Amino acid sequence: MFDDLRNRFDFFIRSKTKFSRKNYRGEAENPESEYVYDILSKFMKPKERDSLRVLDIGSKNWAYVRGEYRFFRQFSPNLELDGVEIDAYRLYSNFYSRYEAAKFYIKGLEGANYYPDDLLNIGGKYDYIVWLLPFVTPYPLKRWGLPERYFMPEKLLKHAYGLLEREMFIVNQGEEEAEIQRALLEKLKIPYEFLGTISSKALEFKNLRYGYIIKKDNY
Ligand SMILES: C[S@@+](CC[C@H](N)C(=O)[O-])C[C@H]1O[C@@H](n2cnc3c(N)ncnc32)[C@H](O)[C@@H]1O
Repeated sequence: MFDDLRNRFDFFIRSKTKFSRKNYRGEAENPESEYVYDILSKFMKPKERDSLRVLDIGSKNWAYVRGEYRFFRQFSPNLELDGVEIDAYRLYSNFYSRYEAAKFYIKGLEGANYYPDDLLNIGGKYDYIVWLLPFVTPYPLKRWGLPERYFMPEKLLKHAYGLLEREMFIVNQGEEEAEIQRALLEKLKIPYEFLGTISSKALEFKNLRYGYIIKKDNY
């Protein structure tokens, strides 16, 4: 109760003030980016097309955008890669926001856009969707600093599925979250393929990760 009040207050303030130091600089090519390129290469099979629209959900600071971009760019000369993040103005201890960091990571990537917004405000259609570590239990969302009202895994999944044209890749952290993800997919009657554990030599994690591929019927 008190935690949620604090999260609501902090979230409100940072969303309104959008405060950040400017001109963030980091390592554009980094292990997160390598990791994402590697797991996408293992588990996604896009078809070549004249143009592609791809959505990354919950992009954080999008430090891994280059890996995602490099992967999808192989399948189309005209790539639009959108990242959406509801808590884009969260500050790091060095007073740069995720938004400011994301601006640095997408620099020079034509067709890449970072939207500081709620997934529910995203419309249109996407050929491919990447969703790394959605919140499917309330505690991680609370620890992340988000107000409880944003805990709505079923509504978000339904919305994401509505945006999907071809293939969506979801990665969950830990067996429990993966089982909850499976239950959500089944409840919404979304057909899926369970991929088992997702791992990469580029970056190793303490908790095992699990993946799902969701394909639209007509694909
Ligand atoms: C566990 S983090 C994963 C971040 C990133 N995808 C990664 O793998 O490092 C989940 C992210 O989803 C974002 N998020 C949660 N609900 C959202 C919503 N409704 N719309 C957009 N982003 C959301 C959170 O703020 C958080 O940055």
